[in-house]
Amino acid sequence: MWGGRFASTPDDAMQAINASIDVDKRLWREDIEGSKAHADMLAAQGIITREDNAAIQAGLDKIAAEIVAGTFPFSAELEDIHLNIEARLTERIGEAGKRLHTARSRNDQVATDFKLWTMRASREAADGLRALQKSLVKRADECADWIMPGFTHLQAAQPVTLGHHLLAYVNMLERDRVRIIGGALEAAWECPLGAAALAGTSYRIDRDMTAEALGFHAPASNSLDAVGARDFALAALASLSIAATHLSRLAEEIVLWTSPQFAFARLSDAWSTGSSIMPQKRNPDAAELVRAKAARIGADFAALNGIVQKLPLAYAKDLQEDKALTFNAIDSFALCVTATIGMIEGLTFNREVMRQAAAQGYSTATDLADWLVRELKMPFREAHEVTGRIVRRAEEAGVWELAHLPLSEFQAVEPRIDEAARATLTVEKSVESRDSYGGTAPERVREQIARWKENFE
Ligand code: ARG
Repeated sequence: MWGGRFASTPDDAMQAINASIDVDKRLWREDIEGSKAHADMLAAQGIITREDNAAIQAGLDKIAAEIVAGTFPFSAELEDIHLNIEARLTERIGEAGKRLHTARSRNDQVATDFKLWTMRASREAADGLRALQKSLVKRADECADWIMPGFTHLQAAQPVTLGHHLLAYVNMLERDRVRIIGGALEAAWECPLGAAALAGTSYRIDRDMTAEALGFHAPASNSLDAVGARDFALAALASLSIAATHLSRLAEEIVLWTSPQFAFARLSDAWSTGSSIMPQKRNPDAAELVRAKAARIGADFAALNGIVQKLPLAYAKDLQEDKALTFNAIDSFALCVTATIGMIEGLTFNREVMRQAAAQGYSTATDLADWLVRELKMPFREAHEVTGRIVRRAEEAGVWELAHLPLSEFQAVEPRIDEAARATLTVEKSVESRDSYGGTAPERVREQIARWKENFE
């Protein structure tokens, strides 16, 4: 397609390093869409004839059908999807096909195609997150008041409700969705098509017409920026990395919860794997792979960022590597979301074990300190000290839950502590009492569940 200037053909390895068709064939839909919009505009502007445009439109439709049917002859010699489709068009319709590339370049073409693809893929990623949010809310609804240890430093800190814990991820994923959709909206702002190679074109093109036909808000207002920028892909990758980080944290919790040492939950058979040597095992491989894939998605962002950050304006072939990275991130992300939905829906939580674990480690000590403050008007620092001494006595007496410590032990430290105070030290009373907005009280959790359900509609 560019051979006129050369006397001999490229080295085989040159072709191998240069060809991107195996990767960018995924842009075929967007490429055809972009070409159709471009040809319509060329005809409307009188740059090509209506007859040529009609032949181009019909030819491109036939090519689309060939690709869908799997009969399109992809060729590495033709480098990429753009040249493959254009060459095939000329093969099918002759002369008119050769006029399609008037007033454009592969540089504005690929920027447009890839932007369209990334916008669509981002919206699908956001839809995936919404589906996961729904699964989480459904599970949270089933166990709004189930009690589990809330951790800081992975040490039992205060009891929380399982519903509250699951909803924490729904909040994270909501911000992820907003970030991903926001990136897609931003990308939709400016259409690169018509920037041509880098400087614009001398043909009287109508860039508003192509921008509108392709669903963009406006034509890009600087041709160098239009062909050289990939921040729309960087933004998508950055947002996906953050979302994948959240999936990874949830995966990590699934690994912990389902380990026999925690035994908070059990993965369904469909989402467990066995060991080839240890028959008792039920391994959480999918959760582990979500963790690993999150790291790779982050690496995709880092790689593209590294590629773009040292490029002088405008286009350089380095940018061709943007697609493999973005496709990988989008594909792995979708798989991670599907796996996470599967795991969450199939988890069986062990209510009794979680409740037990929540009560251990004097997790209601703060509740006692709060009682001393509220009822005895003790300054909080002093209440902290008194409670600390009671915890020490409990430890010495070998009693592992404050609610099980005899009243006399409390009173040995602070005589004004009564049965009513002691009664607030169960994990149930503890979570019920944390009913500030955004708190873990089942009542608050149910409110949030209702809010999410409404939000989903
Ligand atoms: N396959 C190329 C890419 O993805 C298309 C643009 C080629 N442009 C060029 N000046 N060689 O970046």
